[in-house]
Amino acid sequence: MDLEQYRRTSHDIWGEMAPGWDERRDWIWEVSRAVGEWMVAKLDPQPGQRILELAAGAGDTGFAAASLLGDEGRLISTDFSADMVEVARKRGAELGLDNIDYRVMDAERMDLDSDSVDGVLCRWGYMLMADPAAALGETRRVLRPGGRVAFSVWAEPERNPWATTPMGVLVSAGHVPAPEPGAPGLFSMSSRERIEELVTQAGFDTPEIEEVEVTFTFTDFDDYWNFVNKLAGAVAMAIASLPNEAQAQVKADTERQAESLRSDGGYTMPGVTLNALAS
Ligand SMILES: C[S@@+](CC[C@H](N)C(=O)[O-])C[C@H]1O[C@@H](n2cnc3c(N)ncnc32)[C@H](O)[C@@H]1O
Repeated sequence: MDLEQYRRTSHDIWGEMAPGWDERRDWIWEVSRAVGEWMVAKLDPQPGQRILELAAGAGDTGFAAASLLGDEGRLISTDFSADMVEVARKRGAELGLDNIDYRVMDAERMDLDSDSVDGVLCRWGYMLMADPAAALGETRRVLRPGGRVAFSVWAEPERNPWATTPMGVLVSAGHVPAPEPGAPGLFSMSSRERIEELVTQAGFDTPEIEEVEVTFTFTDFDDYWNFVNKLAGAVAMAIASLPNEAQAQVKADTERQAESLRSDGGYTMPGVTLNALAS
């Protein structure tokens, strides 16, 4: 894979997704707060500390930490998409948080001094990066000695049908190639072994890893389809690149495949993350 090309495409995709994340920011946090709250509880931020959030998206995991840092502490909320940083800035203002610096920053090349932060949060970010080893190495560099990183990545594809249902349809129809093993993407860090390898090679001790469940509920198929097309990164862009007729076919096939996930007139889509804490 051409990683430079991947970086450019991923950056563009996430800029395109920013309005969708803005629109559904409350919903995203409600369905996923168990994941973010696990990370913040494990990181255990203290008043006066400087905490960095990477790939923050709408920023809520970092905001849960910011409220614990007091006036003397500081959250640095970052994302490589300037549009996403604006979504986070808006959300932080809504929450009345004023101890936050918002910055556009690529987690693979952090514009921060070494030993300059007390803790790092990164929810659903590292596995999407072209070189997660570089990003974890940078994380270690900017952390003070003894500082910790809490992060979350998606567990195995089989346990995340919210994502694999449309992806499977796109692959079966030949619209996108099957993911290359080891290539960046939703499931590139979906095993404990891979997480341990990346984390320890970056200079951290063996991480604590715990599964956290996420249940996505959708009122009907159109609600789910809106989520897939407005929020789901590479899947959304693959669908958008198709002619209208092919998009309609992918939608119909996804609806058929999602039949087993119907409940109470809507859809209940399970998901599992692997949350990790390392120091
Ligand atoms: C799935 S979203 C997660 C957003 C947020 N952390 C959350 O959990 O709700 C992935 C985010 O990672 C960001 N991202 C992807 N690659 C990045 C990189 N190399 N550096 C910084 N941010 C990146 C995207 O812009 C996007 O906002």
